[in-house]
Amino acid sequence: EVVREWSGRLQLERQLSQHLHIKEVIIVPGNVDTNTNATMLLSQEAAKYLESILTDEKIVAVTGGSTIASITNFVQETSKWKQLMFIAARGGVGKDVSFQANTIASLFASRMNGTYRTLYMPDSLSEEAYTTMKNEPFIQEMMDLYERTNIIIHGIGDAEEMARRRNTNEQEIERLKEAGSVSEAFGYYFNEQGEAVHRIRTIGIQLKQLQHIEHLLAVAGGAKKAKALLSYFKQAPAQTVLVTDEGAANEMMQII
Ligand code: BG6
Repeated sequence: EVVREWSGRLQLERQLSQHLHIKEVIIVPGNVDTNTNATMLLSQEAAKYLESILTDEKIVAVTGGSTIASITNFVQETSKWKQLMFIAARGGVGKDVSFQANTIASLFASRMNGTYRTLYMPDSLSEEAYTTMKNEPFIQEMMDLYERTNIIIHGIGDAEEMARRRNTNEQEIERLKEAGSVSEAFGYYFNEQGEAVHRIRTIGIQLKQLQHIEHLLAVAGGAKKAKALLSYFKQAPAQTVLVTDEGAANEMMQII
């Protein structure tokens, strides 16, 4: 029974990675929407994958969100790395500090003996502030680190849910809907075809910078995220590895 279930999962992983045009899909049992155990398995699997690709002197960029935050609990505490750096891929989201990229970067760093760089600023800036900030030396330094990033660990969200979490006003949410936003990642909103239809004015890693990053680790589960995942993966770099759960995987297969 166990073996059959597992071989079925391997097949599903292969099918999905082909459909999504990405390097690999790893599926854990369960559905994070309804089962906290699945959240743990998802985080554990992501931590394991990260540890399998880590070598010293790497720059690891992380985004925020509850999924990525949870991974920090499952990486093994170690002092074997001498020159590992964790950086926040963007400024903060919403009010909950524990889910912000800055906090998550520092948590990874403290468990893995790394250093970290943070980006303390509002997630969304006025045009004026954005233009001024861009030229600040500490921002330039971050931009340079993004160019040299080796690994990125990121979440993917449902467009409307993320907009609400960011306290986006109703008018703006309406505009996002009209533009057909389905998913959100890195501060970009994507439509069903995977086109970026909106971007929050934020300092952070740029979509085009993802293209030349060696390892992209996307972690997102739950049947509720299936549509968002299909949207994001319409455009995701081919080297992406997705760690997800059966809930999302089965729902994606139904839609495809
Ligand atoms: C964050 C990303 O990592 O995770 C967002 O910055 C994404 O772009 C979000 O939408 C998803 O959050 P959660 O809590 O569902 O993991």
